[in-house]
Amino acid sequence: MPIKVGVIGAGGMLQYHAAGFRQAGAEIIAVADAAAGIAAKAAEKWGIGKAYDSVEAMLAGSPQLDAVSIIVPNKFHAPLAIQCLNAGKHVFCEKPPALSAAQVAEMIAAADESGKKLMFNFNNRARPESQAMKSYIDSGVVGTINSAQAKWIRRTGIPGFGGWFTTKALSGGGPVIDLLHMIDLALYFMGYPEPAHVLARTFDSFITDKGFKGPWGIPDRADGVNDVEAAAHGVVTFKSGQILTLQASWAEMIRREEVSVVFQGTAAGGKVERLFGRDGLDDTAIDNCELYVQENGNSVNRTIVTPACEDMGRIGSAKNFIEAVEGKAAAFNTPDQALKLMQIIDALYQSANTGKPVSI
Ligand SMILES: NC(=O)c1ccc[n+]([C@@H]2O[C@H](COP(=O)([O-])OP(=O)(O)OC[C@H]3O[C@@H](n4cnc5c(N)ncnc54)[C@H](O)[C@@H]3O)[C@@H](O)[C@H]2O)c1
Repeated sequence: MPIKVGVIGAGGMLQYHAAGFRQAGAEIIAVADAAAGIAAKAAEKWGIGKAYDSVEAMLAGSPQLDAVSIIVPNKFHAPLAIQCLNAGKHVFCEKPPALSAAQVAEMIAAADESGKKLMFNFNNRARPESQAMKSYIDSGVVGTINSAQAKWIRRTGIPGFGGWFTTKALSGGGPVIDLLHMIDLALYFMGYPEPAHVLARTFDSFITDKGFKGPWGIPDRADGVNDVEAAAHGVVTFKSGQILTLQASWAEMIRREEVSVVFQGTAAGGKVERLFGRDGLDDTAIDNCELYVQENGNSVNRTIVTPACEDMGRIGSAKNFIEAVEGKAAAFNTPDQALKLMQIIDALYQSANTGKPVSI
């Protein structure tokens, strides 16, 4: 029997979730969106049988659902995930996992109680480059990763002024929490070690400057709030002795948009990198996946050749959720990793707010 999925939130990410679920053989039988008429429009566009204006209505009207995917503003991730887990559904939740580690702990408790799967859309793990690199790390080629650098930096990438993305109460923060993917990917490569200390600074320069608006995101709201950071720099040390430095920005004076994890191991270094072009993923964009080794007295740079993946693993990640629920594949991520990631993010903000290092 195919897994029956209900989708919550009919924004821009729905297309990727739908494609991934269907590739894995699941049926999308319902869609819910809180904004009037949006679910019905999405149901028609994506060929989904039932449309609902609330999650309550969807759970009551389509009790045969096995799983839900949550694709709504960050504030609603934890309450909706808990509601659906309590109703006995597997949950695939968009990133960030929640607004705080405390909320993630509550989600995990609900998953444990229900015995259902809780996974998050850390889609960059599903990119062919990331999986290829992880296979080298797992096979011992890299040794222990001593140090890593995670970056997702944009020059003009504020995703709408005054909307939910720039309102801390709805989003939890700016690029640190929104562009958390490379921090997650670095931790995935490093073996998700136990964090020890965190030191960070955030900057809100340009957060109200329309010259720094991204070509995507949601419509501006003149009466809205812009109280999140525009850029952040930080460092995380681990009980294992490893260290991670990070940079995340929506608006910062850099040459071009860069999305990368670079690491230095005891046997090899490596890099997974996407440099976006002037118009996003155009002809000038560059993808790199490389290993750096010393062989026979020579410095050797190996290029790992992987298939192009324009969607940055979004379809593959949704597919993995269904396959993990069915027991056909190992889950790309686990709830305890999401908890650790959110503990680090909480500590980054705490350090930036207090100006002091934070111990975890
Ligand atoms: N993984 C990725 O690459 C990626 C990319 C973009 C966005 N996201 C994440 O996806 C989520 C949604 O972002 P978006 O850009 O699609 O937002 P969006 O504002 O375009 O769409 C969100 C939709 O959710 C609906 N909604 C809001 N609250 C709801 C509720 N309580 N119940 C039901 N529906 C509700 C809204 O009406 C809207 O249609 C966010 O968490 C964001 O961080 C992930």
